[in-house]
Amino acid sequence: MFEKTLATSNRTDEKSRMKQEKKLDQIQKAQTTKAKDTKKKIQAQGILEKQKKSKIKFRFNNPGKINPPVIKISEVSFAFDKNAPEEEYIFKDVDQYIDLDSKIAIVGPNGAGKSTLVNLITGDLEPTKGEIMRNRKLNIMKFAQHFMDELKLSENAIAYITKNHPGITQQEARTALGFFGLSGKTHTNPISLLSGGQKSRVMFANISLSNADIMFLDEPTNHLDIQSVNALIEGLKAFTGGIVIISHDQRLITNVCNELWIVEGDQKVKRYEGTFEEYRQELIDAMDDSIFEALGENETTADPSSSRK
Ligand SMILES: Nc1ncnc2c1ncn2[C@@H]1O[C@H](COP(=O)(O)OP(=O)(O)OP(=O)(O)O)[C@@H](O)[C@H]1O
Ligand SMILES: [Mg+2]
Repeated sequence: MFEKTLATSNRTDEKSRMKQEKKLDQIQKAQTTKAKDTKKKIQAQGILEKQKKSKIKFRFNNPGKINPPVIKISEVSFAFDKNAPEEEYIFKDVDQYIDLDSKIAIVGPNGAGKSTLVNLITGDLEPTKGEIMRNRKLNIMKFAQHFMDELKLSENAIAYITKNHPGITQQEARTALGFFGLSGKTHTNPISLLSGGQKSRVMFANISLSNADIMFLDEPTNHLDIQSVNALIEGLKAFTGGIVIISHDQRLITNVCNELWIVEGDQKVKRYEGTFEEYRQELIDAMDDSIFEALGENETTADPSSSRK
């Protein structure tokens, strides 16, 4: 009964959200091709304001207990090319652990190895050296950064979910999709017709049915509108299992995570002792120095008294 009411109210919200997400997709595309157009930015702002008003809820089932350590990473080294010399490895002698109460944010520059680290931990990649121990009872789930490459686009959302969860019925799949703000045609249309945000939410509905003990989320907010990001934050805050997130979204990290792992491309995975805000400030300070140095080189003859140090 409650599910039926939810599905009906979602249908109205979803229609406008679908339109909005499609527009956001177009805007994102326009921005990546560097056609940054003020008019479109203003439109995007308007869309974001509208979206704040509609309802959507991300729900994840909470896991039972598993005694720690749930995942133990011991002396792990990794290179895609097994014949590469050790100094060219992406990781060398990494030791870390993850428990069910871990709420970890992995941060670092592009190409540093964040996704590779997560793929090693989930078992999608094998360490070149060392070992990753996963508790035998552990059930993990991953939201992949490039998940769209893995979707069969001619399939619909119900088929995608029932294929991944053979035990569940079409109606149960629809109910799960409904919780993530998807209803009506978005269940039965080919996935290719959905917006980026809708495709993301199909992935999340699929994850929610997996009863994961630990969720690995690699850039989960890339295609989500602000209201879905808020719903994701609330859903993750209510989730009692382990969470490992790769994200550049400061609000997501500070609301959900209490532990920061830094992957900077120096073969290490460092646990940061301070807060995310302190880490951000460190980056800004380092950036200021490099900008200052660059300026110093260019302006040595201009005004030496303006030197900062
Ligand atoms: N399948 C692969 N084969 C060979 N090299 C790869 C492969 N996948 C990634 N790499 C390389 O490994 C390095 C780490 O990549 P990875 O995708 O883990 O970085 P990332 O920190 O997740 O980056 P981003 O922030 O852009 O997502 C990069 O230099 C990348 O080019
Ligand atoms: Mg990545």
